[in-house]
Amino acid sequence: MHAANRLHNVSEYYFSEKLREIQTLKSQGKPIINLGIGNPDLPPPAQAVQAIQNAVNELNKHGYQPYKGLPELRNAIAQFYQKHYQVSLNSESEILPLFGAKEGIMHLSMAYLNKDDQVLVPNPGYASYSSITNLVEAEIVTYDLDENNGWQPDFDALEQLDLTKVKIMWVNYPNMPTGGKSTTELFEKLIAFGIKHQVLIVNDNPYSFILTEKPLSILSVKGAKKTAVELNSLSKTFNMAGWRVGMLTGNKDVIENALKVKSNMDSGMFYGLQIGAIAALNSENGWFESINSHYIKRREIVWKMADQLGLKYDKSAEGFFVWCKITNGKTSHEMSDYLLYEHDVFVTPGSIFGSKGDNYIRFSLCVDEKQLEEVLNRLN
Ligand SMILES: Cc1ncc(COP(=O)(O)O)c(C=O)c1O
Repeated sequence: MHAANRLHNVSEYYFSEKLREIQTLKSQGKPIINLGIGNPDLPPPAQAVQAIQNAVNELNKHGYQPYKGLPELRNAIAQFYQKHYQVSLNSESEILPLFGAKEGIMHLSMAYLNKDDQVLVPNPGYASYSSITNLVEAEIVTYDLDENNGWQPDFDALEQLDLTKVKIMWVNYPNMPTGGKSTTELFEKLIAFGIKHQVLIVNDNPYSFILTEKPLSILSVKGAKKTAVELNSLSKTFNMAGWRVGMLTGNKDVIENALKVKSNMDSGMFYGLQIGAIAALNSENGWFESINSHYIKRREIVWKMADQLGLKYDKSAEGFFVWCKITNGKTSHEMSDYLLYEHDVFVTPGSIFGSKGDNYIRFSLCVDEKQLEEVLNRLN
């Protein structure tokens, strides 16, 4: 059987392949510590766990649920956006709950991209923007992010491009993998760019509560809803990555078109998950301080590791990754392999995020202090 042509430019997700190798090494007795993946290890809010447990016992709530989520969940998302980002959203038309931000990349691509349409994709950037563009057989146009520019797009360079076939621009601030910051000025420039060139700007925003000064949404910029939507997620904010709860917010026509795709792909989110998600979204501010207190301590240890390895990094970066520049001439894969095979530590090679990540490796802060101290000892 021949697989479809659309699979020609898509390979297995890097981590699914790499985790198999790590598993094999572990089964051979290697004490691998995985600093590769951004999978929060801290528990979710207690009230979310309690709420889903209670909801599971409601025996008449195990059937299909509304395609666009419970009104109560959309209301909780609207309140969350108002409270934390000072953004008003209409919970009927401007919010679509998702199974994580990642699936939204597919829905938007299916809803907006014809074959041969072009898509602006950051380099380095989250791999799914490219792989999903390939899956829908549209054309990737990469734009470089540079550390000298705070990892922001170079708008002068973008203006030089022929943008007539560009339909979507993926942006992601706070940025993964670089830790580049979200700022209102940056979001204003992006919105102006989207309006001028009639490009749908999608800010993928799962990291806005992790080691940031203040959470920001691109939708807080005046006029943003004309040209932009935002993907957001409970995965990192509430340590609920396995629950698969996220959201698409913003321009109502875009939401409507995404729903046309989504409602043909799934049949609603389990009631208990939605009730648990509502409880998480209603968390007090102390929640964010509490998770960040862990990440601050962990980051200190990772900085020491980076110093030990002669790597360069930015102490003001946002999100829960430490993005480090390699200074000894090794490529990112060589450095990652060196740490894996010599020290039993897995870190992500920057090149999986694009060619501009070639000189970098990425450490995750989703590992407890004890294991991080162990890695530091191994490196010493
Ligand atoms: C930039 C970025 N976008 C989206 C996601 C996926 O988030 P979710 O778990 O909500 O699908 C991740 C997860 O690693 C990410 O780093």
